[in-house]
Amino acid sequence: MSAPLNSRKLVLAVDGGPDAFASADVARRLVRAGAAVRVAVTATTERWLPALTLATVTRSSVARSVEEGRNLSREADGVLVWASGAELVSGIATGRVIDAAGASFLYSSAPRVLAPSSSLPEAGWLGALLRALSEDALVLARGRPPNEAVRAVERALGPRDLDGRRVMVTAGPTREHIDPVRFISNPASGRMGISLAEIAARRGAEVTLLLGPTSLLPPPRVRTLRFETADRLFELASETAGESDVIIAAAAVGDYAPVSPMGRKMKKREGELRLVLRRTPDVLARLGERFEGKEPRPVLVGFAAETENVIANARRKLVEKRVDLVVANDVSRTDTGFESVENEVTLVGHEGEEDVPRADKLVVAEAILDRVVDLLASSPSAIGRREEPLDSLRRRTTTDGRES
Ligand code: CTP
Repeated sequence: MSAPLNSRKLVLAVDGGPDAFASADVARRLVRAGAAVRVAVTATTERWLPALTLATVTRSSVARSVEEGRNLSREADGVLVWASGAELVSGIATGRVIDAAGASFLYSSAPRVLAPSSSLPEAGWLGALLRALSEDALVLARGRPPNEAVRAVERALGPRDLDGRRVMVTAGPTREHIDPVRFISNPASGRMGISLAEIAARRGAEVTLLLGPTSLLPPPRVRTLRFETADRLFELASETAGESDVIIAAAAVGDYAPVSPMGRKMKKREGELRLVLRRTPDVLARLGERFEGKEPRPVLVGFAAETENVIANARRKLVEKRVDLVVANDVSRTDTGFESVENEVTLVGHEGEEDVPRADKLVVAEAILDRVVDLLASSPSAIGRREEPLDSLRRRTTTDGRES
């Protein structure tokens, strides 16, 4: 990748707390990437780390007051808030800033990344504030390491290389009802697909997210259509695919559904119960078939959730589903995959494989989209950029495909 931080002016806002120590490492990485870094602190930062350390690494004085923070933010090309605790998060979310760190974020109109502290409580009200902040800033998961925060800043300041592209992402589990109160599903949270939708939108794409039943909220600036069953996903995907330059199938689609779901709650009886299941449509494979040999055709990306022979199975899916790239992950691991905020994947393409090290799903999404950008550039048959965005893509949509 180019050097997006070279000669850029950055503010590193550091909060107090156990993660404050690592801010020196963050500063060092930003400086090494060529950035001119100024540090802004809160009233508690220096209880954990002497300002001299940060001043030495950045070769600049440290800003403490609201006034200094505001002045820094006016000149900055980007702001990274490192290790923010509850007070700083609520201060910037509600516009009540009392120090340079808060002011540098609040008064900046440049790209901003917020890396919450690992000690930030999971309280619901904080989640709501972080979500509100994610309308403007890229908000990482709690306690991400320095290299990921720096990578997120690099991306935030990097080129909008999906400008004018239309990207469709499928995400989340499917739910196939047996009766009104029971269903067959899987533990997918949809986080990987939601992360891909968020990053694609930040990189300039017009994104349509087809999202299954999950408690996670869709990202801002993304048109979201909700589905429950594989059949409904197939309908929505078929409608949206024709207007897409890129299709990413991250949904964990159930392969089977009950043949005759009951209209009323099933009563228990003696003995065994046998359910008869039918195959659901393979959404990605059907799209691969539909676009095979067509010009122009979208770039197709699938996932391969595997518990064994991960790469070999991914390679088989690459060929059988006629796609350009398969993102392989080992779902037998409990620390990455389905319900985790982290993932570790291998990108399996027709030209070879590339490992993406374990990281926040937002950071993994960046790596996947880097490959998508390469594929768009190298594929003469990919649908070209469009000048005009579709009006329909500007509308946001809520439940079961209905637009609002
Ligand atoms: N997929 C899909 N529709 C299905 C099943 C899978 O679109 N009915 C997509 C998934 O979104 C993913 C890819 O196909 O991008 C592979 O999904 P996965 O669950 O790993 O594999 P399956 O194709 O279901 O194969 P198997 O269960 O045999 O591993």
